[in-house]
Order: sequence, then C-alpha cells, then structure tokens
Amino acid sequence: MTTYRKYLKNQTLPGMSEMETDQMKGLPLPPIQKPHPEGGCLVDLVSPAEFTLGCLPLIDAIRGRESRRKYTGEPLSLEELSFLLWATQGVRELIRNGLVTLRTVPSGGGMHPFETYLLVNRVEGVEPGIYRYLAIEHKLYREVAGEIQGIERIGEICNGQHFVGKGAVVFIWAVRPYRTEWRYGEDSLKDILISVGHICQNLYLACESIGAGTCATVAYQQEPLDDLIGVDGDEEIALYLAPVGKVAKS
Ligand SMILES: Cc1cc2nc3c(=O)[nH]c(=O)nc-3n(C[C@H](O)[C@H](O)[C@H](O)COP(=O)(O)O)c2cc1C
Repeated sequence: MTTYRKYLKNQTLPGMSEMETDQMKGLPLPPIQKPHPEGGCLVDLVSPAEFTLGCLPLIDAIRGRESRRKYTGEPLSLEELSFLLWATQGVRELIRNGLVTLRTVPSGGGMHPFETYLLVNRVEGVEPGIYRYLAIEHKLYREVAGEIQGIERIGEICNGQHFVGKGAVVFIWAVRPYRTEWRYGEDSLKDILISVGHICQNLYLACESIGAGTCATVAYQQEPLDDLIGVDGDEEIALYLAPVGKVAKS
C-alpha cells in the first residue's frame, strides 16, 4: 500500500537530480498542440472578446460550486461551450516565438501537456460527434462525425456511471506526457496530475456562472476510453473527464 507514496514525493527516482532532461540536452520543444490532418471539419467558436456571459461574481461561483450529476435536457449554446473551453484551456498569449503558450490555467513549467476532447451530445450549432479543441486557433476539430455511440458508451466506460452520458457535452482531457518530460524527465508525474486539476476546477467555476453543472470523474476504464477518443495510451493517454449539462435553477 505504501509503495505508491513515493510518487507523491519530489525526486522519486534515484539519481534524479543528476538526470539530464531533453531540454538540458538542447533538443527542440515538442509541439504545443497535437497536429490535425489538413482538410478536416473545423467549427468556429465564439471569440473570448465577444463573450456576454460568465459575469457571476467569483464569490458566488465558489460558494455555489458542487459536483452536479443531474442535467436537464437543454442544450448548451455555442457561446457557452466556447466559454467553457476558453476557461479551461484558452490561450492568452503565445511566447518564445510561438513555441510556448500562456493560458487561462497554470501548468507546471508552462508546458500545458493536455488535449481536450469533447463528446458533443447537445450543443446548438454543433453536430453530435467527437471533437478536439484547438486552443491556439480557438476552434473545434471534428475527430469523428455523427458518433453518438460515444455518448451511449461513456457511461459503461465509466463503470456504469450513466449520468456521464446524460451531459450536453463530456470533456475528456488526455495528456501527451512528453511535453512535460521534455522539461522534467521522469519527474513529470506530479506536475501532470496537479496541472489537470486546475483545468477541472476552472470548469466547475465556469459552469456555475452559466447555470450549468459538472462532475469530475476519474472512475473509468483506461483502454476503452483511450480507444473512444482515438489515442494510443502511450504517447497520449486519457486522464480525466467531466460531463457538463444545464442544471435546474435552485
Ligand atoms: C479527482 C477526482 C475524481 C472524482 N471522480 C469521481 C467519479 O468518478 N465519480 C463521481 O461521481 N464523482 C467523482 N468525483 C467527485 C467527488 O465525488 C466530489 O468532489 C466529492 O464527493 C465532494 O463533493 P462536491 O464536489 O459536491 O463538493 C471526483 C472528484 C475528484 C476531485
């Protein structure tokens, strides 16, 4: 039971302090965003400069936040989805010749090793399917068209937590670990796990401010979730997910 605790500590591996990372070796920074094939379907999102929502005082969002597992059948608007994506992974600025991003959330070493996949179920103006958020362009890239099967399967993949598939959309965060390993080598675990928590916390607060709710979800089966979003489970690994839906007004 206690062997795993070493992973909670820094410098977990012997000789870690002498380890030479790829950054130290002068190897190039890995891409900050997974490339996508040319000619695919892109969906324009509402620009953060045009948001008309999200004005709930922060104190009320923090006070009201709770994990919400019951959603109305109402769709999210495109602006609401755009706002949630921006709040969780939005790019504020590109620095270092466009090789590094500053975002609306912090990330260890500024490496932002995550990709956001969406199972879209009910979003106005967006066909159901599996999408990926292109944070730099602030657009969606359609990975799988018309794949509502994903929504049907996700509750099973989450060990029978069927509320997950009832969301208007399900956020699934995958990690591309090399982005952090480039900088921190085999000492990247804590950075990655802590960083993804910041993303989900912003999702909770952003949901509160638009009359929606979410529930952080870690109980899922790894391989089926990797398969669903089309990642190999090694270079890219599904890590955390959260359904989002409108909630009844209290
Ligand atoms: C890392 C993490 C994993 C979680 N996994 C699940 C989950 O798989 N299923 C679920 O229903 N809730 C899950 N939750 C939500 C917790 O059960 C919830 O935060 C806790 O009961 C406290 O309730 P509150 O968020 O409403 O304050 C998770 C929360 C966190 C932070």
